[in-house]
Amino acid sequence: MTNFKYLNGFPADINEIRNRKEHVKKIVVEHPRYKYIRDTIEEIHLLSNGSVQADNLYLYGGTGVGKSTVLKEYASMFPRRLVDGQTKIPILYFRVPVGATPKSVASSMLLAMKDPNYDKGTESNQTERILHFVTMCEVEMVIIDEFQHLIDRETRHVLNRASDWVKKFSEDANIPIILAGMTESKIIFDHNEQLDRRFTEKKEMKGFKFSTQDEQLEFRIFLNTIDEQLPFPHRANLADINLAEKFFYVSNGNPYYVNKILQEATVIAAKSGNDIIDQNHLYTAFNKLKISKRPNISNPFKEENFNIGDAFAIEGRLNKNKTGNAS
Ligand SMILES: Nc1ncnc2c1ncn2[C@@H]1O[C@H](COP(=O)(O)OP(=O)(O)OP(=O)(O)O)[C@@H](O)[C@H]1O
Ligand SMILES: [Mg+2]
Repeated sequence: MTNFKYLNGFPADINEIRNRKEHVKKIVVEHPRYKYIRDTIEEIHLLSNGSVQADNLYLYGGTGVGKSTVLKEYASMFPRRLVDGQTKIPILYFRVPVGATPKSVASSMLLAMKDPNYDKGTESNQTERILHFVTMCEVEMVIIDEFQHLIDRETRHVLNRASDWVKKFSEDANIPIILAGMTESKIIFDHNEQLDRRFTEKKEMKGFKFSTQDEQLEFRIFLNTIDEQLPFPHRANLADINLAEKFFYVSNGNPYYVNKILQEATVIAAKSGNDIIDQNHLYTAFNKLKISKRPNISNPFKEENFNIGDAFAIEGRLNKNKTGNAS
């Protein structure tokens, strides 16, 4: 249970609203797929210690399913520290910049290591510095996120020089590397067989499903764990089957949307001095959300006779009619 005070009908001030919203943003639930990926990463990390050949992992999945969340949480378990004046960085996490070149990837990595001269020097000079820092800072594992940025946004071509750089780095550093990106980044391996051979372990992170009883239970446990951490004295009862169905419908099992709606609902509820998030707040919060991929989604909150099957069917029909009209 969280320790957020009663508002008793008095609107929260701006600091209080900000605190509560930030609190919601930080909620992380260790659901089974999250745990599975976290355990895989842990195994790769710990088994590679002192190994002649480190293992690597490629983690892919749709936007918002929780890839960065699990990676950052894992990295945060091994924070950088100062030992006898020397910085130790057990796990280095960084993101590939848009339109990656070897130099921009190397610069991002140096920046993550807090090198003040991160963008200085030639590509090979930077690479040497990275390898030196990896040894000096005793980096045990590198996590490279946003791997799809190795694909050019406009031409959709794979940026081969940058992907070669990553391949070469993984050989030279001989520490485990986790590459993570959106599903489209799989194509990078088709263009770089050597990189593909170094990342034979490929795992997909998926969102929640809601077809079987077990899947429904898993989603409801996820909601319940969030509910326990919401910044209000009273529970919102998110795992109630009726509300869970509504949350599944609006999110399609993607945790990003669940969190986004709850962030907004938190602001709305706190602003109006409420001590619980109710369906009116969720309704208004949902209306603020724009999901461009689902133009015909309807707002299920406040609906008394909501039926998830019907809601998806109606949306599907509307989508079809639109495409039909357009052609
Ligand atoms: N395990 C979790 N528990 C609670 N919320 C989660 C969890 N995983 C993800 N979320 C929510 O979903 C949001 C999006 O997650 P995240 O940024 O990790 O997705 P991603 O897979 O990295 O997406 P992208 O490919 O767009 O970078 C998070 O900010 C968080 O609010
Ligand atoms: Mg991400």
